[in-house]
Amino acid sequence: MQLNDCHNFYDFRRMAQRRLPGPIFNYIDGAADDEVTYRRNTASFEQCDLVPNVLRGVGSVDLSVTVMGQKLALPVYCSPTALQRLFHHQGERAVAAASGKYATMFGVSSLGTVGLEEVRKLSNAPQIYQFYFHKDRGLNRAMMERAKAAGVEVMMLTVDSITGGNRERDKRTGFSIPFKLTLGGMLQFALKPAWGINYVTHERFRLPQLDEHIDMSGGAMSIGQYFTDMLDPTMNWDDVAEMVKLWNGQFCLKGIMSVGDAKRAADIGCTGIVLSNHGGRQLDGSRTAFDHLAEIVDAVGDRIDVLIDGGVQRGTHVLKALSLGAKAVGLGRYYLFPLAAAGQAGVERALELMRIEIERDMRLMGCASVQQLSRSNLRFR
Ligand code: LAC
Repeated sequence: MQLNDCHNFYDFRRMAQRRLPGPIFNYIDGAADDEVTYRRNTASFEQCDLVPNVLRGVGSVDLSVTVMGQKLALPVYCSPTALQRLFHHQGERAVAAASGKYATMFGVSSLGTVGLEEVRKLSNAPQIYQFYFHKDRGLNRAMMERAKAAGVEVMMLTVDSITGGNRERDKRTGFSIPFKLTLGGMLQFALKPAWGINYVTHERFRLPQLDEHIDMSGGAMSIGQYFTDMLDPTMNWDDVAEMVKLWNGQFCLKGIMSVGDAKRAADIGCTGIVLSNHGGRQLDGSRTAFDHLAEIVDAVGDRIDVLIDGGVQRGTHVLKALSLGAKAVGLGRYYLFPLAAAGQAGVERALELMRIEIERDMRLMGCASVQQLSRSNLRFR
């Protein structure tokens, strides 16, 4: 299977599955408990229909949006995701460079495998730094200072992960850092020798955002264990308010779902929120961002930028979210499978396909700019 054979999310997913050892593929592809929310994320976009207008003279289409003061050429951005070097040796470098080419925002995770300073130099597009609230308050402050010094535009605190989601696929394979595989998991690595050779012949795996502060070499640490052992479950609104003040810039909370929390985020001076259920990887059975979007936009849309992520695979999904009032839409697995399949070239192809789809769909909707999308273009069944 070649990159040119990939025309949509499922093609990239299949290509990634062929290349990656099972435990790594399943870490990306998997979600919590019964994966109900994961499946629902994409399905929720199908509960509503687009109502196009015709004969509007849509000669050129402007796809740009402004979100949290950042001008993006596309209404989609690459959400921060962890451990990218495991998926492809170019890791975060590929995602930053591809996002830069498409002039859209990209996130670097505190669990990223390339330093945020290095990544900053690879793209002129706005950079998000995603972090979690650690028990070590000094570490939280140090992370923010480091991101400020590196020239990061948007600080994003993930608030839906104070403990690890129940990812049963990872339990079965023994996925952790460094690898501590079950026998079954080991066999799955043996089936993908090309990945293994590539892995050992490129630079070693690191977590440069954390390795000065946290010793992860002592034993294998699962992502769930990192959340549970290192992060502070007592984190509250006062702690976050202090961080917002300290950052003194664009500050976004990722993983907000309730109206009450959205209002509080605006009250403490956040400039954005991402409605998200973490790709279905944390609380299974939680509502999807798209299902909940209108309610949140109605409550706080005039005070704070509302973004969403989860299950976005098509240009029409993006159009539906924008029509309801989202300012931009985050992509996760949508670019991770292409990254795993073909590195930077894969991410670029995925963004190009998304750009073409959004542009075509806007034309078919009779909209020359994102501002022209509105709820009048949607009907729920
Ligand atoms: C995950 C975390 C690391 O979902 O964001 O695996």
